[in-house]
Amino acid sequence: MLRWDSGISGEIYEIIQHIPDKEKDDMNQLPYEFHDRDREIVFKRFDLPSPWINYLSNGNMHAFVSQAGGGMLWWKNPMVFRLTRYRFYNLPMDTPGCYIYIKMPDGSVWSPSFGPAESGVDFREAAHAPGYSVFTAKKDGITANLTLFMAQDTDALLWDLSLKNENGEDTELNIYAYTELSQYLFQQETTLGYYLKWNTMAEFDQDLQAITYMYTAWMHPRAAESPLVYFGSDREISSWCCNRDLFCGNYRDERNPLEIEQETLSNTKLQGGEPCAALHSKIRVEAGKEEKIHYFLGAVKGALSDHKKALQDASEALRMLREEGAAESQFEKCHEWWKKHLSVYQCEIPNESAMREINTWNPLQSVQTGRYSRSISSSASGVRGIGFRDSAQDMLAQAYRKPDWAKEMLRYLCSLQLPDGHPVHIAFPEECKPPQDITRSDNHLWLLYLAYAIAAETGDISFLDEKVPFLSADLRGQEGSASIWEHLLRGIDFTEKHLGSHGLPLILFSDWNDHLGPFGRQGRGESMMVSEQLVYGLRQMIELAELRSETDLVRRFEARIRQQEEALRKYAWDGKWFLRGLDDDAKPIGTKDADYMRVWANAQSWMVIAGVESQERMKEAMDNAEKELDTGLGLMLNAPGMPLSNEGDSKVNGLLPGYSENGGIFCQANCWMIMAEALLGRGEKAWKYYTQIIPHEIILKTGVENYGAEAYAYCSTLLGKDNEKFGKGCVSQVTGTSAWMDVVSTQYLLGVRPTMKGLLIDPAVPADWEHFSVTRIWRGVKLHIRVENPDHREHGIKALSIDGKAVDLSDGALIREEMIAGKKEVQVLAIMGD
Ligand code: GLC
Repeated sequence: MLRWDSGISGEIYEIIQHIPDKEKDDMNQLPYEFHDRDREIVFKRFDLPSPWINYLSNGNMHAFVSQAGGGMLWWKNPMVFRLTRYRFYNLPMDTPGCYIYIKMPDGSVWSPSFGPAESGVDFREAAHAPGYSVFTAKKDGITANLTLFMAQDTDALLWDLSLKNENGEDTELNIYAYTELSQYLFQQETTLGYYLKWNTMAEFDQDLQAITYMYTAWMHPRAAESPLVYFGSDREISSWCCNRDLFCGNYRDERNPLEIEQETLSNTKLQGGEPCAALHSKIRVEAGKEEKIHYFLGAVKGALSDHKKALQDASEALRMLREEGAAESQFEKCHEWWKKHLSVYQCEIPNESAMREINTWNPLQSVQTGRYSRSISSSASGVRGIGFRDSAQDMLAQAYRKPDWAKEMLRYLCSLQLPDGHPVHIAFPEECKPPQDITRSDNHLWLLYLAYAIAAETGDISFLDEKVPFLSADLRGQEGSASIWEHLLRGIDFTEKHLGSHGLPLILFSDWNDHLGPFGRQGRGESMMVSEQLVYGLRQMIELAELRSETDLVRRFEARIRQQEEALRKYAWDGKWFLRGLDDDAKPIGTKDADYMRVWANAQSWMVIAGVESQERMKEAMDNAEKELDTGLGLMLNAPGMPLSNEGDSKVNGLLPGYSENGGIFCQANCWMIMAEALLGRGEKAWKYYTQIIPHEIILKTGVENYGAEAYAYCSTLLGKDNEKFGKGCVSQVTGTSAWMDVVSTQYLLGVRPTMKGLLIDPAVPADWEHFSVTRIWRGVKLHIRVENPDHREHGIKALSIDGKAVDLSDGALIREEMIAGKKEVQVLAIMGD
């Protein structure tokens, strides 16, 4: 059962030894199963160590829901228009949510989901899948099935409840649907909520036959849009309540609400106080029959600015949603969205966990990070806005699936760049808050890769000429306007103007590593990672500049690459591996002689990605780094972790050893190690690094309780081996790991990679793979790519054919657009070998 494949598996063994026997048993009976054909994860146990969430969205209205039924709903933006509450950092954990209560004739109350009313059901199951979550429970012959998903044609969360009666008798059930409403502006609610809660209004509207709710405060920064929330159903409403505290009862909570105990709700409206929307219907289910009831929790704009119109819009939305078959057709549309999105890249490979990641869960997570950056999850409270570098990287996973979305983000990010070429670090596009401008050395460089990725996917570089304004120096407005190409060049200029005394880019406030800053606080520290990033970006820019016939630029970029390469070759090699940088006193960061933080992953991986040093030296560095960094549960970002210093000169800003940038297993940095191994042609090692960090694989080794987070979504970090909770997953869902794993697995491991010349087939796989296949929709053509590996190679293609016609390999295994133009589908056969 335990599979070690790491150099230092001893440590993992240590952890396993400390797991109490009961938990070890549980590890053999995981609380979940993957049903891959349905793209579902099915839960059998619900009291997990953290909420395992699924996001539901139509791009404008969003929600997340956990395996236990906890979750929240927001319109456009979780900071500004938070519609329902979710209590962060609180007990009972994972509450509240979109809840159904079923009251039986004998008075017992239960729910289709584990929360809120967990009263002795006979069977329970839940599942998450792209676009929906479903909760099933059975009690005394009644089976309840609740499916939650987002309507696609209007902004409403659809609750599709079915009740099946197999108890042999006609049964009358009291059904209650409940959600707690919120004051929209989350941060203000936490600071001024005691005043502002008197600006809430909810009632049952007889015309709509639905509860309507609005937060009436005009001090909302986008008050004119401020929505009217409605909660309606397609069945007759017997009673209702809009006052949370009355519904639950004093000092009680959602687990046993007082009003449900009393059966009929109090029909109380709310004018100030803590709002909720609770609807009660009596549903008679005949023996052997099934009844359906749908609920619609939606929002329309303009509750304050044009209330009449908002009511009309709500009425229109409810009319549409109540139509016969509407729920089914909205579900179908949601399903189609995902089907289309996922069909761009599907694979069949001899590694079940990896296949599941590549085909379903990783692209699913990449859509969420694309939408929410690092802002909202069950642990991220939704106030972080859009991280510039974060979103630029997130979009790399959309550039090959939804290039128009990536382009839209590219335009937006360019508009966050100041005329001197550096962009702000965090922006709040919806929140009416000024962006944060703390100058980092890397932000602008991520734009180069995004622009290249879009161009390589589409073959169209005309978007580079689109004009986008700069952000004005006071961060309040716009200043001038330049082509996207010019924006990219300004970024490069900025780096060129901020080089240190060794000719390498200055760290400035920090580079990708938020915690590198203290090494360069005096303004003299230099970052080798930024230098490597620059080289990699310039290589891509040269390809674009050539297509634009800008020969002067090509020469300038080549000269800049030479200058950076010389500096890196001169200063980076430390005898065993490459340095991460030089501090303010020109002392090396990440040197073999240091007590702590001796070796840094990014310094090795990015040297390979930039392709600066000789293959032998880069392999030597990667191998030596592996010995220090690989834990069997992923590679640490750097090691050993530095103890906290009480001298006030800590370089790690208070991070405990083993956590995050201080010796943590930083999952995003693992992606670059995987990419580097793939680029070195070492498929075995690349796959070892890739497989070992797949959450489900970690859980198989250490158990659900130890890892804690979702088995199907990446975490930002795992605690490293200097922490006694080694292997614990931290900050799940909202992480740059998703996009990079997505890109690395599809484009570098399986190696189907868009480039400016064409679609390159460049796999790096374990030698024992006989064959694998990828279906890829590229430039409107569906390619069925089969890769065979008769000589058991880890890398290299010796023959390529399209529809049986051999392709010349002098430029690599490239599928050029003209080779497939005009076709709908083609068969591609690639044979690995020398
Ligand atoms: C976090 C930040 C990201 C940063 C990384 C490394 O993931 O969101 O911007 O690059 O940490 O410090």
